[in-house]
Amino acid sequence: MMMQVDVVVIGAGAAGLMCAAQAGYRGRSVLLLDNAKKPGRKILISGGGRCNFTNHQAGPHAFLSGNPHFCKSALARYTQQDFIDLVDRHGVNYHEKTLGQLFCDESAKEIVEALLTECEWAGVTQQYQTEVLAVSKGDDGFLLDTSKGEIRCHSLVVATGGLSMPKLGATPYGFKLAEQFGLQVLPTRAGLVPFTLHQAEKDAFADLAGVSLPVVVTAEDGTSFKEAMLFTHRGLSGPAILQISSFWLPGQKIHINLLPDLDIPAAIKGWAEAHPAQELKTVLGRELPKRFVDKLVELGQLVNKPMRQYNERELAAIANLLRDWPILPNGTEGYRTAEVTLGGVDTNELSSKTMEARKVTGLYFIGEVVDVTGWLGGYNFQWAWSSGWVAGQYC
Ligand code: FDA
Repeated sequence: MMMQVDVVVIGAGAAGLMCAAQAGYRGRSVLLLDNAKKPGRKILISGGGRCNFTNHQAGPHAFLSGNPHFCKSALARYTQQDFIDLVDRHGVNYHEKTLGQLFCDESAKEIVEALLTECEWAGVTQQYQTEVLAVSKGDDGFLLDTSKGEIRCHSLVVATGGLSMPKLGATPYGFKLAEQFGLQVLPTRAGLVPFTLHQAEKDAFADLAGVSLPVVVTAEDGTSFKEAMLFTHRGLSGPAILQISSFWLPGQKIHINLLPDLDIPAAIKGWAEAHPAQELKTVLGRELPKRFVDKLVELGQLVNKPMRQYNERELAAIANLLRDWPILPNGTEGYRTAEVTLGGVDTNELSSKTMEARKVTGLYFIGEVVDVTGWLGGYNFQWAWSSGWVAGQYC
């Protein structure tokens, strides 16, 4: 039997759940479809199982997009405070970790449960393990051929997310659907992702796996982040590296300030005066992980001797290395471990007010499938909530 609803939302992730509930509250009959067994799988694993669901500092500055202005409208109309109010209404306890990042005290499950409760209150019908086989458009809406039968709807919302974590069921379906309807899709690549190193560096740093240090890391476009960097068995990770990976292109170097809180030349001069008999390794070992300092000496990047034996030129060279430790990544770990997908449905194709496709009445794209990608720290969920909420007011 053919099913007829006002709105079909494809994808019961962060953006789809939010949008479905909002459309339901407007009195629209809504069917939320997903090819997975359950909703919100990425929410469940996010933030180490505690879901970093938004950020106090969320704003357009924290998003990458071909059109940096596009996200402004949705972020202003459904803010981090709006989502915090929703979380409060559902009695979810949370805390601020660092840099404005809000995490559940208990479990990410509470966020999924809150959104499912909203969907229930709004009368949304949900259908899982459903493949959309084909979509066509007629004068009065869309016809979907799915693995569970045909569905007609007036509005179709695509909330299928990005390509990261294919193990969790990520598919390029949303991009394909956009192309089917003649919308431009910008090239995609993995973002918020660890770097791999070339073999020589990988071997050299492998025994530092687990060592972490605060740094300022800068990309070639000048973007920089001050957070922790972590050595792994495959290369470099940690928040600073994940952040900068979204601004990195193959072949480019990243530049790492290893002592971001110090005026390095002045500090080195001070150490040389205060501890002339101590070796550089000893002095630096008080500021940086000892194993890392030993490694820099082992690799010949630093020459170790008593501080009094360095001349001015040598002290300046040490300062330069510590202020700008250059790394040429081999690549990234790709979609397998990436948190997000950069690129996607071109924002020029969409209304920033409604998220509706300019060329196709009734077709909406929300969340990560759109070319709007946030920094690490709860920004990507905020985009999912904001874009889902605005589309829910119109679809
Ligand atoms: P999302 O991926 O949530 O949902 C898409 C849905 O569409 C899925 O349910 C999927 O099954 C479904 N789907 C896909 N193809 C389909 C098809 N062909 N047919 C039917 N259904 C289909 N962000 C953040 O702000 N804070 C955080 O703490 C984290 N942590 C984090 C950890 C990890 C490991 C990852 C991989 C990602 C994060 N993120 C994050 C990013 C965040 O999870 C992501 O940006 C949002 O989930 C995007 O929301 P969407 O609703 O757009 O896609």
